[in-house]
Amino acid sequence: MEPEIDWDNVGFGIKKTDYMFVMKCSNGDEFKQEGGELKPFANIELNPAAGVLNYGQGLLEGMKAYRREDGKIVLFRPDQNALRMKDGADRMCMPCPSVAQFVDAVKQTALANQRWIPPPGKGSLYLRPLLLGTGPILGLTQAPEYTFLIYTTPAGNYLKDGVNSQFNLYIEDEYDRASLGGTGGIKSITNYGPVLRPLTKARSGGFTDVLYLDSATRKYVEEVSTCNIFIVKDNIISTPPTKGTVLPGITRKSIIEIARDQGYTVEERQIEVEELFEADEAFCTGTAVIVVPVGSITYQGKRIQYQTDTNSVCNKLFSTYVAIINGETEDRKGWITEIN
Ligand code: COI
Repeated sequence: MEPEIDWDNVGFGIKKTDYMFVMKCSNGDEFKQEGGELKPFANIELNPAAGVLNYGQGLLEGMKAYRREDGKIVLFRPDQNALRMKDGADRMCMPCPSVAQFVDAVKQTALANQRWIPPPGKGSLYLRPLLLGTGPILGLTQAPEYTFLIYTTPAGNYLKDGVNSQFNLYIEDEYDRASLGGTGGIKSITNYGPVLRPLTKARSGGFTDVLYLDSATRKYVEEVSTCNIFIVKDNIISTPPTKGTVLPGITRKSIIEIARDQGYTVEERQIEVEELFEADEAFCTGTAVIVVPVGSITYQGKRIQYQTDTNSVCNKLFSTYVAIINGETEDRKGWITEIN
């Protein structure tokens, strides 16, 4: 049965879909393929002493399934999410599904919820894999049991203004997102709660999101609360390196490759905050936001506005990215996984 949804206004919020995937594993053990199953989407039961609730032992991923004009359902580089979860699990001392188990579970979950995948061009089915310490503990240690869970929701544009959306960023110089040696470079659930204070402050000032600086010197640009950042100056594209404090975004990595293939020079290097005020363009990348232009950045009362027209580098890269997903441009790198 077709869900009753206004596909032109899906937005980015939770809509209950049909199934979720659940697989459990004890600490010190390995996830077993036969242990995973699809279940009707429902609340989950947790011991109040679960490691994730008390000590934040948890990871999240974000990925999307798309419906193409020819009826194919595709995923974009699902192995990369699996590998990123493995890195995060290692940092957070958790067992992790293998890449094959992860990708298989994502396929099963997307197919089981396929009636919720928007029509071509109207968005995607957002998949949210979680790895959680669900066993009870009191003394600070690894949880005795772990749950790998995937839920889904249909998703449209992350920002409210749809295709005309852009980020108006506020540079934060009071709060930090990540520190050297911390968890900024993995998709730990603990990276998100603490940015709500600066995000709320920025939103109340009319900004869309916050751009954080490095916590050691507050001199270099690092990341936005929800996505990675790029700048363009004289057709050279630059983005901060992923050396522990910046999330290695899969959209970030793919856009770097697309840009290099199109002949752009892309530098992964430290970007001084002053460089933002000399750049021709800035844009953000992430699974939820995809590739979005930055309209303005404000720092210590100084505001810079960027070009966001259709001739922008951002728009060219976005168009290629979307064309690969839609099958209008050949997938020469094997990024697309067809699942039906
Ligand atoms: C994503 O882009 O998929 C994320 O997980 C970021 C989240 C804040 C929406």
